[in-house]
Amino acid sequence: MTSAPPNPAGSAPGLVAEFDQTIHPTQEKIEILSVSLLDEHRSLVSELKQMAKSLRIEFGWHYLLDLTWTIHSLGAVAGKTILEAGAGVGLLQWYLAQAGAQVLSVDRLSRQTLPVRYRNRFQARGLRATDLDPDRRALAHGFTRPLPGPFYRRWAVRTLAFGRDLASYLPTRRSPGSVVIYNQDLTHLADIPNDSLDAAVAISALEHNDPQDLERIVQEILRILRPGGLLLATLTAGRGQDWWHAASAGWCYTDTTLRRLFDLPEQTPSNYNRYDELFAALKNCAELRDNLAHFYSQSQDKGMPGGVWNPEYQPVGVLKIKKAAKG
Ligand SMILES: C[S@@+](CC[C@H](N)C(=O)[O-])C[C@H]1O[C@@H](n2cnc3c(N)ncnc32)[C@H](O)[C@@H]1O
Repeated sequence: MTSAPPNPAGSAPGLVAEFDQTIHPTQEKIEILSVSLLDEHRSLVSELKQMAKSLRIEFGWHYLLDLTWTIHSLGAVAGKTILEAGAGVGLLQWYLAQAGAQVLSVDRLSRQTLPVRYRNRFQARGLRATDLDPDRRALAHGFTRPLPGPFYRRWAVRTLAFGRDLASYLPTRRSPGSVVIYNQDLTHLADIPNDSLDAAVAISALEHNDPQDLERIVQEILRILRPGGLLLATLTAGRGQDWWHAASAGWCYTDTTLRRLFDLPEQTPSNYNRYDELFAALKNCAELRDNLAHFYSQSQDKGMPGGVWNPEYQPVGVLKIKKAAKG
């Protein structure tokens, strides 16, 4: 998109260029994510691809849109404390730490044996002792975890991963920010005080909850955000009615349901009126179609069964701002 700016976050040159370009958003919105985001934010898209490649992270089929929209909407993050809801081992938390944020990475799935190459590079630690095993256990896990394929291939994969883990102990440049791992359900963030975080982000995570739980999650995230703090979540959009997409085990929500669950007033802008036009452009997007992650072709239940390009829903972003307390 634009020329690369100076990088006050002190991150690796060429990475994390987008943050200085944006101002703090002041308008709540619901936005189906247009594929035009890829061209509008080309330098950020390239950074994301480069970082994912270096970390050996494969994207979900629409994640480039989700990540680009979220990062661009978030504004400057250096020095801020940001919750990533349903983070898994996904790219955003590492990207934000590289840009200087203190990230609280929440997921109900355990990351206790997170590979040490992430720990060292992004200064990862557990919120509680149980959230992250000692390095030696993670190293042992890396060498004993089950892998598919013949013996020589398994041996090569394990040895390479072990080498990368060991190399991460070298005194290379670490991210200015850090990642705190917290294994917890988003409905119950008991260890996080009220009004304590600057922002919360969620990449394709909240739709894996039914409406009742999602409503509770939104309230719980708003509890821990400071007044004026941003909640930026990408979910999956449904047209006409809410429906369950079995292949990705997620709900596709209508504009009406998102308004209700995120407690957004009627006048909140939304582009659901362009649903069909945006969906047609998504289905024709060669950049996403031709770069499907390998895991899709190896699975029937990962959202794009068998790796055959056939989008059945589109991603949508919700921007919610926590109001100041009355009185
Ligand atoms: C499709 S994955 C996306 C992971 C990550 N955001 C990324 O960019 O790769 C969804 C994640 O959200 C997590 N998740 C969904 N609902 C959750 C909840 N109620 N509490 C904690 N984690 C949740 C799941 O465990 C899963 O790791």
